[in-house]
Amino acid sequence: MKTLTAEQINEIRNSVDIVDIVSKYIPLTKKGKNYFGVCPFHEDNDPSLSVSPDKQIFSCFSCHTAGNVFSFIKEYEHVSFIEAVKMVADIAGINVDIDINKKEFKNNDIYKIYEIGQKFYLNNINTQLGKPAKDYLHQRGITDNLIKEFEIGLAIKNSKALSNLLEKKEFKEKDLIDSGLIVKDENGFHDFFYDRIMFPLHDINNKVIGYSGRIYYKSDAPKYINSKEHVLFKKGEFIYNYAKAKNECRSKNTVIIMEGFLDVIRAYSVGVTNVVATLGTAFTKEHANIIRRLASNVIICFDGDKAGAKATMACSDILLNFNIIPKVVRLEDNLDPDEYILKYGKEKFLDKINNPISVMDFKLNYLKNDKNMTQTVDKAKYVSEAIEQLNKIDDDILKEVTLKKISKETDLDIEFLKDKLNKKETKEIIKPIKKVKTNKYIIAEMSLLYYMLRSEDVIKMFDNRTVYFPTKEYRLLAHEINYFYKNNGYINEADFMTDLDDDMIKVVGEVESLDLKEEYTNNLIIDYINAIEEKNITDEINRLTKLMLEETDEIKKIAIAQKIIDLKVRGEKNVG
Ligand code: UTP
Ligand code: MN
Repeated sequence: MKTLTAEQINEIRNSVDIVDIVSKYIPLTKKGKNYFGVCPFHEDNDPSLSVSPDKQIFSCFSCHTAGNVFSFIKEYEHVSFIEAVKMVADIAGINVDIDINKKEFKNNDIYKIYEIGQKFYLNNINTQLGKPAKDYLHQRGITDNLIKEFEIGLAIKNSKALSNLLEKKEFKEKDLIDSGLIVKDENGFHDFFYDRIMFPLHDINNKVIGYSGRIYYKSDAPKYINSKEHVLFKKGEFIYNYAKAKNECRSKNTVIIMEGFLDVIRAYSVGVTNVVATLGTAFTKEHANIIRRLASNVIICFDGDKAGAKATMACSDILLNFNIIPKVVRLEDNLDPDEYILKYGKEKFLDKINNPISVMDFKLNYLKNDKNMTQTVDKAKYVSEAIEQLNKIDDDILKEVTLKKISKETDLDIEFLKDKLNKKETKEIIKPIKKVKTNKYIIAEMSLLYYMLRSEDVIKMFDNRTVYFPTKEYRLLAHEINYFYKNNGYINEADFMTDLDDDMIKVVGEVESLDLKEEYTNNLIIDYINAIEEKNITDEINRLTKLMLEETDEIKKIAIAQKIIDLKVRGEKNVG
């Protein structure tokens, strides 16, 4: 695989403007020299993300995610660094000759195992052995086209078939086991999936990272089994059909979520292609975080049964916490989308999808389900539950409309309901804000780093005085900056960040969140350095004092005491 040189990477970075690229993803507003927007990397409504056209970097004051244009794409698109470079190069119209498919994945071998597995399963379904499985799929209306489109395969009735194939290939035992396709017992390796229809699970880059195997004959065994979780595959974060649906979701700015992948495949077959599914697991915050990158309008279309309604309640609450107000489709007769489409046909389903109900209408119906509204007790309970739900919504119009509805239903005065609504605590927005520690020494360390990131002269001052940063992460960052400067003869934050690992980038983000003035005086820098030295001296005095107290040898005690006095004198000079 070809790699790019640092110069080439910097050239790609220099040929685009970070403001243009970030604003493709999130709306930015100019304020002073910088641009601001809502940070996509933590739950927030405030514009805490700042993008600097001068420095070509972004940083979030709240969650401290920071970096250059590559880091932004990497975080946002969930791609590797080299893929991000390639994406930026594409935007800039620069042709880079790197093989993205062989990118530096943490575990390339697991992908290779899936590639072999995938070929094997796909081949099986087209052989004579695969006939019963194919018949089963056909009978369910899954055509050959759909089988091809969704890469559906078959694990055959031979529990050594894939193991034998893979054993010949010199994979590490750990990778074979980690892939979830192979298990080992006292009889050696054998296949985890046995006589099941195999639905490959693709990650957001359309690479297979797991499987769900469906039984296709009468049996007491579980209907589906999934390959086990590993670093690349977590059920609670997995979205089926993401890669395939991505473009369609973005162009329609709408994404439909379902519970099962057969529902997705069926919807796809009738032309509804902006649709994804969870793996039947509860919808999580992580799901929401991935989903919201697809589109700002979300439609929940879960199974029509009671469990589906309950899951819709939970899912919408998670989305509401991300400030996404979803719409809801409920299917009659307890049907799931697959069954609904088969029973009522494409047109009726499209009609459903094109006319989703508001999440509040859904919730009001849900709340009324277990109540007898002619009973005062139930009615009171309903009102208080409805108000509680309405409090989660951050949309004045929807609130007003819904209040009117509740008022009509219950014969209660709208002003009374409004009063109740306002009394309730408004929803708590979870903000994972890491508080920057604020003692004066820490501020001095951060400020010195802030200017080192901007000025060669400050780096030189750091180097000349061999400043020792008491805080380890800051010390590491200072050395990284110094090292970059010595190697390249200049400092430029955006270039500098290209080589940093994620932890160090966080530290830069923390430093950037100080948002100090760009201009500085030498005296200001000297003040910072002195404050840092003062801290070092105090730490050292404390250490020696402890040592002195523990020392039993009188002569050594006096020597330590002398050192302490010297340090105190140095400290006073420093301050004066
Ligand atoms: P469903 O039971 O709704 O499956 O589970 P389905 O999509 O209707 O499938 P068919 O039509 O019966 O074939 C929804 C999802 O839950 C997961 C699967 O990912 C499925 O798509 N599931 C279900 C399991 O992981 N294991 C099971 O035993 C059942
Ligand atoms: Mn089904």
